[in-house]
Amino acid sequence: MLVLGIETSCDETAVALMSFSSAGIPTILTEEISSQAALHELYGGVVPELASREHLKNLPLLVEKVLGDSNVTLSELAGVAVTRGPGLQGCLLMGLCYAKGLAVSVGVPLVGVNHIEGHLLGPKLDNPELSFPYLGLVVSGGHTELHLVEGVGRYRVLARTTDDAAGEAFDKSANLLGLGYPGGAKLASLADTVSSSPFSLPKVMREAEGFSFSGLKTAVALLVRRNEGALCDPEKKAQIAYSVQDAIVDVLCYKLGRAIEAMGIRRVVVTGGVSANRCLRGRVSEIANVDVYFPTFSHSMDNAAMIAYVGGLRLGAGEGMPLDADVLSRWPVETMPPCEV
Ligand code: KG4
Ligand code: ZN
Repeated sequence: MLVLGIETSCDETAVALMSFSSAGIPTILTEEISSQAALHELYGGVVPELASREHLKNLPLLVEKVLGDSNVTLSELAGVAVTRGPGLQGCLLMGLCYAKGLAVSVGVPLVGVNHIEGHLLGPKLDNPELSFPYLGLVVSGGHTELHLVEGVGRYRVLARTTDDAAGEAFDKSANLLGLGYPGGAKLASLADTVSSSPFSLPKVMREAEGFSFSGLKTAVALLVRRNEGALCDPEKKAQIAYSVQDAIVDVLCYKLGRAIEAMGIRRVVVTGGVSANRCLRGRVSEIANVDVYFPTFSHSMDNAAMIAYVGGLRLGAGEGMPLDADVLSRWPVETMPPCEV
């Protein structure tokens, strides 16, 4: 079974072609990602209207490339999987409308995929030995949530951010340090050049139920203001970056550790753009007696392989989406129906 996956929920246009064996084993045949980071950097953040237009431009090119590189024609597809939500409405619409047109023209079923379900299950592609149940921490630019994952469509939310996402905290702090957008990876690289910092930031909402990162950017702004000139001193700047990274990683690991003990589940998945962070990977891996799984670095970020995978599982179980279905810019993953695979 060949499934085409399409992802356009934010500022990456991604397309992947996946084959499922008769036993349901997935293989990625080809995948392509077109990042719009350079375009949005000019504005210091994602401009939804520009992102939507880029998706419209990129989609036909990427689909043609992905099919061509695998020598597969549209008529060989068994279905089309597309991100239906959550995400930026205009961006989701571009992907959904394009996918609908494709599915209708080829005469194959269409399935709408929850982006967070993609992040939660996608790491199985890179870690085939990963089995249920596990704790899934999704840390990205738009989401920070911790789930108990008991099966496909069986998610229990344990914690979620009440304001900014972890990636947003990285990006906003990076912006305050003059590192440009998206600054998460740049801030991390700078932080990794030092091994300690004299600058202290508050331990963000350690004991609260959910995550909260909006106070951190205020604390970083104050720190920068109080230490005038620090940004012109490469070492001090790196030390501030170190403190920011430490504060974010600390709270993520603390809450993950608490959930591991409370739930008695010693299998953990960390996924989403921030899971590319080496400090986070290192510290989560240090939690005692826990098996930790990460996606590959490229699958940490938004990608279409995770969408093709979840779509393929649900298509294989007979699910589909009516052609008049709309995008769902808010779509809590715990509302997804269970799926027997
Ligand atoms: O999952 P993703 O590609 O897109 C969303 O669904 O948001 O995540 C992007 C986020 C951005 O905030 C970016 O700054 C952050 O992931 N990010 C990082 C690193 N690489 C990407 N944050 C910290 N350290 C990194 N190495
Ligand atoms: Zn994402």
